[in-house]
Amino acid sequence: MVAMRTAEKCGMLGLLSRGCDADVPVEVMGLKFPNRVGLAAGLDKDGDTIDALGRLGFGCVEIGTFTPRPQFGNPQPRVFRLIPHEALINRMGFNNPGIDAGVANVRKSQTFRGIVGINIGKNKDTPNENAADDYLACLRKAYPVAGYIAVNLSSPNTPGLRDLQGAAASARLLETLKTEQLKLAAEHCKQVPLLFKVAPDLDEEQIRDLSRVFLDGGLDGLIATNTTLDRAAVAVHPRADEAGGLSGRPLMQKSTEVLRAFASHLGGRIPIIGVGGISSLEDAREKIRAGAALVQIYTAFIYQGPKLVRNLARLLPLVVLACLCGNALL
Ligand SMILES: Cc1cc2nc3c(=O)[nH]c(=O)nc-3n(C[C@H](O)[C@H](O)[C@H](O)COP(=O)(O)O)c2cc1C
Repeated sequence: MVAMRTAEKCGMLGLLSRGCDADVPVEVMGLKFPNRVGLAAGLDKDGDTIDALGRLGFGCVEIGTFTPRPQFGNPQPRVFRLIPHEALINRMGFNNPGIDAGVANVRKSQTFRGIVGINIGKNKDTPNENAADDYLACLRKAYPVAGYIAVNLSSPNTPGLRDLQGAAASARLLETLKTEQLKLAAEHCKQVPLLFKVAPDLDEEQIRDLSRVFLDGGLDGLIATNTTLDRAAVAVHPRADEAGGLSGRPLMQKSTEVLRAFASHLGGRIPIIGVGGISSLEDAREKIRAGAALVQIYTAFIYQGPKLVRNLARLLPLVVLACLCGNALL
């Protein structure tokens, strides 16, 4: 991250950004994205590398997760590479400088012309009964500077967080946040979409119940999915038993199945950002075909670097066109 920021300041990333001229903008949730490829949350945890990431071709950079108060996260080591699988296991635990610092960093970004998503969560020591207060505090602070706000209910590294994905708990939280969103929209004269980010470790019944909650509650967008606790796809790797969430290629199939199930229940009424295991154009195509309007990457960016971002940004418009025309060859 330091290297990227330094290279950006010295003007060295400009050379890499030449391919971005081919961007084909797309409108989703009332926002104009320069292209369909976003950086998933959890890499730019502080929100201080937005300009550099934009230069590398991302049309959207989702920063955070931010909590109301700063926190250190879990002790290191807390990220592990499973190289043969092009995967990561992480148990970072929401290390972040707090929402105030995050917002200040967004205000400092100068050159990024894409969408900044701000991902919010609760502090580790906030009990779930009071989680809504944490989300509300972050929502109020993030609202003026965010392109969209992603409510993270799905990190496996904050104990109990995923319980908020229960139908009753998520319905209550959504109602609270939508009420606040209405007030903030009037106060700031702008509509900032509210998205929920879900886990891939959900069964069909949970997906059906959550979809009903999202439709009834007027959710603006869905991000599917976060990392998985499932280790079936990497069982033989010596690091497979490290605690945390698994991301990268072994997540692709499971995450896409969950995306597809949500898409079929939501019936196109709530746009979906597809994330989880994308490491090629073919994978991104699968997400689009499963119902995603936009895609995000994280782990494959770590392994493959900026070339993947530019390739996806350049070629996805063709894929979308082919999907619309029912052409399975592309
Ligand atoms: C090291 C690491 C940290 C992450 N931190 C966050 C986070 O703070 N908030 C969040 O919503 N997702 C976080 N994620 C999940 C990613 O945003 C993404 O949903 C997941 O990695 C699946 O995408 P991928 O297979 O392309 O990596 C993190 C992922 C990794 C690998």
